[in-house]
Order: sequence, then C-alpha cells, then structure tokens
Amino acid sequence: MPITAWNPNLYDTAHGFVTSYGADVLTLLDPQAGERILDVGCGTGHHVKTLADGGVEAVGIDSSPAMIAAAQQHYPALRFAVADASDFAFEAPFDAVFSNAALHWVMAAEAAVVCIAKSLRDGGRFVAEMGGAGNIAAIVAAVQRSRVAHGYAPIATNWYFPSIATYTTLLEKHGLEAQLAVLINRPTPLNEGENGLRTWLTMFGASLLHDIAPDQQAALVDDIEATLRPMLFRDGVWYADYRRLRFVAIKQGLGARD
Ligand code: BEZ
Repeated sequence: MPITAWNPNLYDTAHGFVTSYGADVLTLLDPQAGERILDVGCGTGHHVKTLADGGVEAVGIDSSPAMIAAAQQHYPALRFAVADASDFAFEAPFDAVFSNAALHWVMAAEAAVVCIAKSLRDGGRFVAEMGGAGNIAAIVAAVQRSRVAHGYAPIATNWYFPSIATYTTLLEKHGLEAQLAVLINRPTPLNEGENGLRTWLTMFGASLLHDIAPDQQAALVDDIEATLRPMLFRDGVWYADYRRLRFVAIKQGLGARD
C-alpha cells in the first residue's frame, strides 16, 4: 500500500497552494497556442486546463489513480492518464514538458529524466519546479528528533531534493541543456491556522510517521509543533520551509536550434 494516500479534495483545499505556486512556473514555460505540452505529475489537472485554455494541446499524467480520476472528472474533455514519471512513453513528441511540485516524489530521478528527454522533440523545453537541496530540512529534523525522543528510530525519507549541480548534471547527461537553474528559499504559508502543520503532516508527511500507531502519533505531532513553533509559526500561520529548484532545460539534437 502506498504510504502517501493522495486525497484530491485535500490537495485542492487545504493544500491548494501547490497549484497556486505553479502559476510562476507556467509563466516561465511561456506556452504558445498550438504547442503540445505534457504536464508530469499533473495532480487534479488545473494546470492542464490552463494550458488547454491557451490553445495548447495539453496532456496530464500522474501516478495516482485518485488524482487522475479527479482531474478527469473536473475536465472530461481533456486528456489525462495514470502513468509513472519514471516509466512512461508517448508516440508523438512534445514541444515542452512541464512539472510543478511533483518530481521530488520520484526517487528514480534518472529514469524520469530519461523518459522526459525521450518525450521531447529536439529543441523542446523541460520547465519545472521541485523541492531542492535543503527543502523542508527543519521539518524533517524536528520529526527525527521527536521520533528518537519517543523511542523510535529515525526514518529514511522518500523524497528527492537535489542541488542545482546534481540535477543539471543529470539533465545534461541525457541531452537536456540547463539554460536556467535557481534554488529559491520559499517559506510557504500553510492553510488552516493553528492546524496547518499537522494537516501538512497528515497528507505530505505521512511517510515520516506511518510506522507509529495512530494513538501514539498525537504526542509526536505535539512535540514536533513545539520544536518548530519558534521557527515556522508567525502571526497565527505555519510556514513550511520549502526550497524550490526551478529550471529550464532544452533538448539538444540536430533540430535543436531550428
Ligand atoms: C514540497 O512540495 O516541497 C513537498 C511536499 C510534500 C512533501 C515534501 C515536500
């Protein structure tokens, strides 16, 4: 059973900021009417809809059947498919691949880059944002500290947060020339006031506590909040210590500079 059970309603309400922040990445993508664009990790499909509204032939893939079902229900006329970011292929090449807040969930990072590179035409662009090196470092450290304090071993995390150097090297190894790459500190306000951090831990941080019985988790969460409150709680709002890796890479090849 997957440890992170994706909940499309929670994703669109309490965690609606995931989609909202993607607007900046869409601006960087600069989609043009008539282009074919793939959204990798499309969630509930809102960016695919934005692209389609701009005249793009847009396709969304996500590994979560629940997310794809919600996307297809929101936008029945648009094209979505359940597919793993590290194991997919399309017949016709795309002009661009877009991804927002998804690739840090893909531990098979190199396989994902290979699939993305293969799905682009020469000269096509890969424009994305994901958690970068140091992302949620304070949250993870507080969780590990509380686990140990309550007699549990530290837990291995299942996210991939690369540095600029690591990720651009991977891109270039597979024929994608990084033309822009930035690592941005972006403390991100969480919805639901006092409950913001625990709600985030329920959906996104479930893998950090999944081995602990539900009746024991409450004490850990109280402890995690106490550790993080001086750092991440201001004026009634919890902030996740997000660091985003944002980049534009161009597929090299014979037709790349046409
Ligand atoms: C992120 O968007 O950075 C993120 C979300 C959930 C878990 C870990 C990181």
